[in-house]
Amino acid sequence: MIEALQKVRAETLARVQAAQSLEELERARVACLGRSGALKALLQGLAQLPAEERPAVGRLANELKAAVQDAIAARQQELARRATQAAEALLDITLPGQRQPVGHEHPLRLVEAELREIFARLGFEAVEGPEVELEYYNFDALNIPAEHPSHDSFDTFYIQGDVLLRSHTSPVQVRVMEQRRPPVRVVVPGRVYRPDTADATHSPVFHQIEGLAVGEGVTFADLKAVLTMAMRELFGPRTETRFRPSFFPFTEPSAEVDVCCELGGERRWLELLGAGMVHPKVLEAVGYDAERYTGFAFGMGIDRVALLKYGIPDIRLLLENDVRFLEQF
Ligand code: DAH
Repeated sequence: MIEALQKVRAETLARVQAAQSLEELERARVACLGRSGALKALLQGLAQLPAEERPAVGRLANELKAAVQDAIAARQQELARRATQAAEALLDITLPGQRQPVGHEHPLRLVEAELREIFARLGFEAVEGPEVELEYYNFDALNIPAEHPSHDSFDTFYIQGDVLLRSHTSPVQVRVMEQRRPPVRVVVPGRVYRPDTADATHSPVFHQIEGLAVGEGVTFADLKAVLTMAMRELFGPRTETRFRPSFFPFTEPSAEVDVCCELGGERRWLELLGAGMVHPKVLEAVGYDAERYTGFAFGMGIDRVALLKYGIPDIRLLLENDVRFLEQF
C-alpha cells in the first residue's frame, strides 16, 4: 500500500511538472485527487489493513495530497509567467505609435455651414428637400411650362417618366409652402444636378442655397436688406450688392444680384444670385392667398462661393476627394 502510494505520488508530480497548459494541469489533479481518482481508490483498501499500519498510511496519503496541491500551485504560476513572457515578446513598446488620421470638414460644407449660420441670424430656418424630385415640383409648380424655352435653361437628368434629379433647389420652396402656412422663412442648402460637361466652372453636380420668405407685407426692400446683410457677413463689411432686372418664371419682378467685394486684395463685381418676388402663380399652386401674402426668394451657387472665398481655380477640385487638396482648408 505504501509503495502504491509512493508510486501515485511520483507519477502525479511528474505529470504536474510536465503539464503545458491549465487544462492538462487540471486533468492531472482530477486523475489523482478527484472523486474517482487514484488516491481515493487506494484509500478504499485502508479498512483491510491491520490497525497499527493505518496511521502511517493515512499520514502518507495526507502528505501526498499536500505535495500534489503545492506542485500544482507552483506549476500554475510558472505557466502564467510563461504566458506573460510570450505576450511581452510580441509587444515592443519602443515602436512608434500608430497615427490616427483625423479628418475635417470639406470646403463646401464649411461654406454651407457659414451660410446656414448667417441666415439663421436673419431668422431663416434651414430645411432640406429630396434630390430625386418630381417634374411637378422642379417645373410646373414653379410656373416653368414644359413647352416654354425657359425649361431648357434648367436642363435636367430624367430618371423615369416624371421623376428626375432636381436641377435647382427651388422645388423645395413649393414643398415647404405645401406643408406650412405663412409666415415662412427658410433657406434650403443642397445638391443639384444638370447634364453639363465638367470644366473649370461647370460640374454636373453642384450645390445651391435657396431662400424663401413669405408673409403679409413682405417687399422687395426686405429682399434687398436680407441679401445685402447676408453678403456682408459672408464677404466682409465693405461688400456692396447690385440688383439688375432679369427673368425667372417663378419670380416677378426678378433680379440678378451682383456682389462687389474684396478678394485677394482686388475689388470686383461678381454675379452671384438669382432673386425676386415670388410669382403669384407659385403662391396659388400651394393654395396661398396671393392677394394677402407676398414673398421673396433667392438662389445662390455654393460651389462658386467656395471657389471665390478660398481662391480655388477649378470646381472639379471640390469633387475629386484628393486629400492633399482637402487638407488645406
Ligand atoms: N433656381 C434658379 C437657378 O437654379 C436660381 C433662382 C433664381 C432661385 C431666382 C430663386 C430665384 O429662388 O428667386 O438658376
